Amino acid sequence: MNNPDAKIFILETTTVWDFPIRGDWATHKGDYRGNFAPQIARNILLNYSTEGELVLDPMCGSGTSLIEARLLNRNAVGYDINANAAQITNERLRFDVPHSARQTVQIGDVRNLPHADDSIDLILTHPPYANIVKYSDGKNPADLSSIPNLHAFLDELEKGVRELYRVLKPNRYCAILIGDTRKSQHYIPLSHFVLDRCLEAGFALKEEIIKTQHNTTYTARWVGAARSYRFYLIMHEHLFVFRKPRAAENIALIRHSVARGGVKTAREKRTLYRARKIK
Ligand SMILES: C[S@@+](CC[C@H](N)C(=O)[O-])C[C@H]1O[C@@H](n2cnc3c(N)ncnc32)[C@H](O)[C@@H]1O
Repeated sequence: MNNPDAKIFILETTTVWDFPIRGDWATHKGDYRGNFAPQIARNILLNYSTEGELVLDPMCGSGTSLIEARLLNRNAVGYDINANAAQITNERLRFDVPHSARQTVQIGDVRNLPHADDSIDLILTHPPYANIVKYSDGKNPADLSSIPNLHAFLDELEKGVRELYRVLKPNRYCAILIGDTRKSQHYIPLSHFVLDRCLEAGFALKEEIIKTQHNTTYTARWVGAARSYRFYLIMHEHLFVFRKPRAAENIALIRHSVARGGVKTAREKRTLYRARKIK
């Protein structure tokens, strides 16, 4: 195991995060396709949770969030639909720390989580970017990256997002990292579609962070194609931080950070309109 101290770590203060050198402390490795940098998990855990709280990563891949939870004394549960991911995470959680918090990982589906309503302190996750990387080579139909149709993918991911909303405690945070893609030289704003689904599920948008990408596998061929066909190579991802509003919260105050201005029915709309006129 490498030195567990996060030597190159600094706490971010802006909405643009750039990690040219990926953290490799403790058991972190960059060898799982599409895994995120430990610096992302560390920033989110430090900002939105405290020691001893319970963190969930329901699509944990190689366990970056859980390793950071272990180093930072947060309890954590991880799930992944693929057995190999759960096994990798399990192996990478085997190191000594001078803390008592526990981290566990199981095979599981983000759409069906075995947790009570309002029971999780922080969610940090990183879904597949549709079917760009097929995590089970298309062999596991429950793997969201096996779904070839974009709208079907979004519908299934939304079921997962609604589960996240259900299990998160009110007034706590859910961070989701997601990227965009391109087809026929046109931009597909996958992150915007996912953002819409999260707002529709009831979340309020607290932050949108742009995370620059390094170590992408763009070859000289792609650079040439980008110049010839006048498109730009995508080198950023979006890290959305959502808050689950409190039950009796006055959503009108944050109406531009929630779905449809916080208005669900025509009657609510009329009431809100009258209230604003009186103001
Ligand atoms: C982008 S990777 C996560 C990488 C992770 N952040 C890391 O640092 O290693 C997405 C993960 O979602 C998992 N996944 C796909 N469909 C799922 C589902 N229905 N429920 C749970 N996990 C799923 C994939 O197996 C894959 O490991």
